[in-house]
Amino acid sequence: MDNLVKQDKRIAHLKALYLKEKEKRMDLENKLLQSRLQLKSNNEKLKTLRDHSRENNKAFKLTSKQLVKYAADLRTIVANLNSTNRELQQAYQDTIHRLVLASEYKDQDTGNHINRMSRYCLKLAEKVNLRGQELEQIRFATPMHDVGKIGIPDSIILKNGRLTEKEFDVVKTHTTIGGEILKNSRAGILKMAREIALYHHEKWNGTGYPSGLKGENIPLPARIVAICDTFDALTSSRPYKAPYPVGISCEIIKKGKGTHFDPALTDIFLSSVDELVYIKREIDSKISEEKKRECAWSERDIIEAVIPNAAAGFNNP
Ligand SMILES: [Fe+2]
Ligand SMILES: [Fe+2]
Repeated sequence: MDNLVKQDKRIAHLKALYLKEKEKRMDLENKLLQSRLQLKSNNEKLKTLRDHSRENNKAFKLTSKQLVKYAADLRTIVANLNSTNRELQQAYQDTIHRLVLASEYKDQDTGNHINRMSRYCLKLAEKVNLRGQELEQIRFATPMHDVGKIGIPDSIILKNGRLTEKEFDVVKTHTTIGGEILKNSRAGILKMAREIALYHHEKWNGTGYPSGLKGENIPLPARIVAICDTFDALTSSRPYKAPYPVGISCEIIKKGKGTHFDPALTDIFLSSVDELVYIKREIDSKISEEKKRECAWSERDIIEAVIPNAAAGFNNP
């Protein structure tokens, strides 16, 4: 009897174990099924992602190719623009040069006056700390200082003799004529050129022409031109004189410090004169002797032409 009871208990225990294991197994099978479903779903997502990635990759390669092409096109456009810009700049400078040549042609100056002026003025502009674009403008604007002479009658410009005061009054109008020729431009070089053409005969003390401007009311580029133009006239040949020696020319300019010329600029000029002489020698060494003898009257000659022996007076105050 005891044995039967024991056996029943074991069977009941085993049955309970079986049911528990069966439950566990069913649970595991459920989890396995869910995992499979999840895996399948993940696989599908992965496939979709891979497909997208492939498409993106294709699009990226295409975009990349297009970008390379755009970059090449852009380089060509920039190169063309640079080349056009250089041509424009060249044409611009060429036009200015021809305008200057037109006025010099009539004036029959030694030709190198404008080259020396450009270099002298550039040197002084550097010394007064003008920089970059301003220096570039000085370089191209200063040769145009006498462009208004194109409007002065040949009978005066080409006169082979001293100018009367009346004729000199006509010569003075080359400033306002130059201002008219160069007015209303938006280009920096021409704006500066107009100021120079108009005011390069003004004097520091207000006794110059055409407007009688005084001191710093005279634009700095015009003050620079005034001093360099006088130096070049003094050290150049004229029909009635050999070039003045540099020392005498400096004495004359020194005499005009604070009356004719900006005093600070005069000091800078005097301390830089060796460099200007070097420029003069360099430019003049390229002129033939015959050309050197060709010389004309300059409005700067008023010092000697209308007031004879004024230079000597300056020397022996
Ligand atoms: Fe002038
Ligand atoms: Fe001049």
